Amino acid sequence: MHLDFVPYREGKVELSVPNPEKSWQSADVPIFFNPRAARVNRDVSALILSVLQPKDVLDGMTATGIRGVRYFVESGIPQVYFNDLNKTALQLARRNAEKYHVNAQFFNDDFNLVCLRNRFWAVDLDPFGSPAPFIWSAARTVRSGGYLLVSATDTRPLSGASPKQALAKYGTILRKPEWYPELMARVLYFLVFHAAAVHGKGVEPIIAFTYEHHVRVVARLREKPSLITKNTAQIGFYEVDGKQYGPIWTGPLQNKDLAREALQRWDQDYTKVSRKILALASKEPDVLGYYNVHFWAERLRLKQIPRFDAIIDSLRERGFVAERVLWSDKGIKTDADEKTFAEVLLGAATD
Ligand SMILES: C[S@@+](CC[C@H](N)C(=O)[O-])C[C@H]1O[C@@H](n2cnc3c(N)ncnc32)[C@H](O)[C@@H]1O
Repeated sequence: MHLDFVPYREGKVELSVPNPEKSWQSADVPIFFNPRAARVNRDVSALILSVLQPKDVLDGMTATGIRGVRYFVESGIPQVYFNDLNKTALQLARRNAEKYHVNAQFFNDDFNLVCLRNRFWAVDLDPFGSPAPFIWSAARTVRSGGYLLVSATDTRPLSGASPKQALAKYGTILRKPEWYPELMARVLYFLVFHAAAVHGKGVEPIIAFTYEHHVRVVARLREKPSLITKNTAQIGFYEVDGKQYGPIWTGPLQNKDLAREALQRWDQDYTKVSRKILALASKEPDVLGYYNVHFWAERLRLKQIPRFDAIIDSLRERGFVAERVLWSDKGIKTDADEKTFAEVLLGAATD
């Protein structure tokens, strides 16, 4: 098939990519490239890695090479390993890496085999759909104190929209809650926890977010039995209509200090959405789930949606934490219970 390459600018690089109009719509095209949702994923990842500074990174499913090149150029990661099973993609990745003189090594192999034969300080796993078939080798290959960056796009199982698939792929029993974009990250994080624990490593959250159909979690892995023990206490259940679902990761998802540092490195070359994600991650309360204000306004038959500022102020005046969330423009995260939240919403609606 003839491939139509075009120059494409993203972050601080300009690379050659297959025509973005066509190449992200299907997994069957010769080289995959998504300039929309995945761009936000890449922006946040490049900014976070610039703070974390691992000694090397495996861009394990690289396609055009864009992540690895950006991690070298923008994040300052001194050594980048590129891998893709697709030979044509790897040729393009090589060309893009050469343009920026990336200190690079290339593999053209199955992700699991590359992980089996090597060790890395950071691994970026960005598959089509679910990372479940690759997570065990990814967790094994990351050195103690290194980082795992994982994407997933199979939102139906992760959100609880297909409970059977969720059980099959993620080993958990789910039902879709009003805060399902956050649930997706908590299910993915549960997978990362389990894969790491199997290999004797505990996990520490760095950042987690969802943007459109992209779910992304970043974790530090440490060979430390006491951390695994601590993690097991952060696995738990959530409730919908009085019934419990899970298990999922119920602990913190964000390292707020790191998110704040990454935010300071943001500039106009990055998407505005990436700035918003980092800003909200840097102050996310460590609370499970959030309230979807639109859903509650309908439930309470409010004539209009109250102002978010008014709701947040009123919750804080009553002594609760309250913040907007990175998971949805409709969400408020607070430690107030449902009855209190409803009272506050009714009060804000009549102000
Ligand atoms: C979603 S794309 C990656 C997009 C890229 N990371 C980016 O940000 O633009 C997934 C890539 O994984 C590759 N791939 C699929 N299965 C693989 C496997 N088992 N091992 C290595 N690469 C694989 C595909 O050829 C494809 O290029």
